[in-house]
Amino acid sequence: MQPNPQPGPQPGPQSGLQRVHTIEALRTQLASARAVGSRVGLVPTMGALHEGHAALVAAAAADNDVVVTSIFVNPLQFAPTDDLAAYPRDLDGDHRLAEAAGATLLFVPSVDEMYPQGSAGVLTSVHVGGITDVLDGRARPGHFDGVATVVTKLFNIVGPCRAYFGEKDFQQLAVITRMTNDLSVPVEIVACPTVRLPSGLAQSSRNRYLSDDQQVRAAVIYRTLQAGRMSIERDGVSDPSVVRNLMQQLLQSSPVIDAIDYAEVVDSSTLSRPEVLVGPVRLLVAVKVGPARLIDNVGAIAPSVATASR
Ligand code: PAF
Repeated sequence: MQPNPQPGPQPGPQSGLQRVHTIEALRTQLASARAVGSRVGLVPTMGALHEGHAALVAAAAADNDVVVTSIFVNPLQFAPTDDLAAYPRDLDGDHRLAEAAGATLLFVPSVDEMYPQGSAGVLTSVHVGGITDVLDGRARPGHFDGVATVVTKLFNIVGPCRAYFGEKDFQQLAVITRMTNDLSVPVEIVACPTVRLPSGLAQSSRNRYLSDDQQVRAAVIYRTLQAGRMSIERDGVSDPSVVRNLMQQLLQSSPVIDAIDYAEVVDSSTLSRPEVLVGPVRLLVAVKVGPARLIDNVGAIAPSVATASR
């Protein structure tokens, strides 16, 4: 068992942003805020915050009076072979970034607080079918059950609110949106665009695992997605396998890419492989670069079959 953190709200290091470690203390704070009419925004994170998270917090701060940023590295969404122990942790850095972006409460529960019987003792799991059978759901079995379960728990802890998620984790966003709708959870999901480095590389906590050189070269991921998008929107390619092959080739030709999990183009709402590309589609990539597994995606609008040239 980890030592129980102090029960009530606590100030962080030299700042006005309050750290809260227990579910009870967070609920008490939010009840007081709601009693005076405050609107509540939630930004769930696993810490190691970067500019992508800052944009989520800033969007939440623009729409709401109270912004809860949760930091919890959720063991349920990691496989035994995953990087749970090595997952980057920097609570003081996270505190500073969240405060500067406009967060008002930092919810930092321990594993014991979230899962009193330990993560292996959790008997209830939220499973979203269909859209979790593909892409990261296939590559990381059980991952989205862990995500849907902890996000359901966070929504139940925080209560009715707006919750902010990045489009960088497009499948995660689809899973959470579906779970929220299917279970009539009184939370409004707000999708926020991916924040990128000037090179085009998507901001990610896992970028910390990359050397400077790998970071520069990993921009090939975004260039690949852009090339796929252009082939659809500019060249009128309507055969998904042509787009897939193009993306595979571009990634394979880059020495920085150690392995390709997938390079896919799917229907934006069902995440299934269409026979012909029509309307809103999503191009998604998951690759290994050194020690990091990186994912990214962009949207494209496929012209109607009648106007497509191939
Ligand atoms: O995107 C993440 O950081 C996590 O998957 C989330 C949504 C906070 C759940 O642990």
